Amino acid sequence: MDLIKAIQERKSIRAFKPDSIPKEKIEEILRLVIHAPSAINLQPWEFLVVAGEERQRLSRRLIKAYREKKISCGPGAVKPLPKTFGKRGAKTLETMNPFLDEMKVNSDQFINEGSCNFYGAPTAILICLDDSFSEARLVDVGVVLGYLVLAAHEVGVATCPIGLITAYGDEIKEALNIAENKKVIIGIALGYPDWESPINRFKSFRDNPDKFIRWIE
Ligand SMILES: Cc1cc2nc3c(=O)[nH]c(=O)nc-3n(C[C@H](O)[C@H](O)[C@H](O)COP(=O)(O)O)c2cc1C
Repeated sequence: MDLIKAIQERKSIRAFKPDSIPKEKIEEILRLVIHAPSAINLQPWEFLVVAGEERQRLSRRLIKAYREKKISCGPGAVKPLPKTFGKRGAKTLETMNPFLDEMKVNSDQFINEGSCNFYGAPTAILICLDDSFSEARLVDVGVVLGYLVLAAHEVGVATCPIGLITAYGDEIKEALNIAENKKVIIGIALGYPDWESPINRFKSFRDNPDKFIRWIE
């Protein structure tokens, strides 16, 4: 498969088969992923691969934390979002809802508790950063995340980035015994798609490129 095809085909998957991913497959993905560029080639990322009973235990802890604190998936804005952005989020949820209706599930619960459960994926990867880095290094993690979802797709593994769990960073650190000086930046669910599930027919829209691009010449 070529890169263009992988970029066009990849999408976030929100229902997984329980089948586990062989360790070698995860290693193959991560060996590809670390080719990502990073500032001064610091390669600041650290990957925690959580699978098996530990993955289940982590989700039980996250769902408990979600039910207590009710911090939901959101844009994480620090001031009111300009309408353009809010509209994209709203349209995404609107177009996702018919699939969730077909599944007879509550959309808030599906997204929030589903995210805490990595949508049933057998493996979760948490990308961490040492807390000595400034926020500038979040860019490097974003780049490596992009590589990860594409590399996984290329070798037949589906993904969904899970930002929600970072709201429960303390609980994750406690559950997985992560050092105090490490920050969990993003989680990723990895597994084989359950194509029987209606939600996996959902494909998010993209705005017209003209909306994002301004030429200065
Ligand atoms: C940083 C980041 C955090 C995300 N967090 C979540 C999440 O917590 N739960 C979820 O269901 N999807 C999450 N997503 C997936 C996005 O909703 C998805 O990428 C977006 O709707 C575009 O759809 P696509 O990935 O299928 O192209 C996240 C994606 C990114 C890049």
